[in-house]
Amino acid sequence: MPKKNIGKSFNIFPMPVVIVGTVTDGRPNFMTAAWVTKLNTEPPLVGVSMGHRQHTAKGIQQSSQFSVSFPSVDQAVLADYCGLVHGYDEDKSAHIDIFRGALEAAPMVRQCPVTMECRLSQTVDLPKDFFFIGEVVNVYATEAVLTNGQVDVTKLRPFVLTMPGNSYWALGERLGDAWGIGKALLKPAE
Ligand SMILES: Cc1cc2nc3c(=O)[nH]c(=O)nc-3n(C[C@H](O)[C@H](O)[C@H](O)COP(=O)(O)O)c2cc1C
Repeated sequence: MPKKNIGKSFNIFPMPVVIVGTVTDGRPNFMTAAWVTKLNTEPPLVGVSMGHRQHTAKGIQQSSQFSVSFPSVDQAVLADYCGLVHGYDEDKSAHIDIFRGALEAAPMVRQCPVTMECRLSQTVDLPKDFFFIGEVVNVYATEAVLTNGQVDVTKLRPFVLTMPGNSYWALGERLGDAWGIGKALLKPAE
């Protein structure tokens, strides 16, 4: 398969869409993020990258707490809105039904079926972004998205972002078993 060098600007295909919540200047604030990843197993950590100038970044630095809420396709408009405006210009919390768990400065989005509250564990100061690493303190889920006590992605119906093109996509068809379909290439036992 011949390859063409297309430079070093890259994306991850696709990216999850979450809403990060915190308290900035004493007020709950929420922003949409796609540069988010699971880190470490024990303690469970989550990493979120955000620009130095984000109002949310200011709040996480002030409070050392934040939340990550997972919208379903039903909350796509809300998630997009939280990524369109800055908390220093507009009070986004007016559109959000806030609930709190154990952490006062990690307000979560009740409209989102799955949410988690995190305590800031580490901040990596990158040239343009902060990479905030949070320890997950509690995960909350609406009963309706659970199967046998676990989050069922077919019930959660999350959506993803692709760039370039700035598009949201619902999940497509199930392809096969992870840690399973590759067995077709395993060497047969001798
Ligand atoms: C789908 C989507 C994903 C986004 N992902 C990120 C991200 O990962 N990091 C970031 O800094 N900004 C991201 N943004 C932009 C912020 O959400 C946006 O600048 C927001 O207004 C910041 O709000 P705040 O200033 O109240 O924190 C994203 C926006 C959208 C719509």
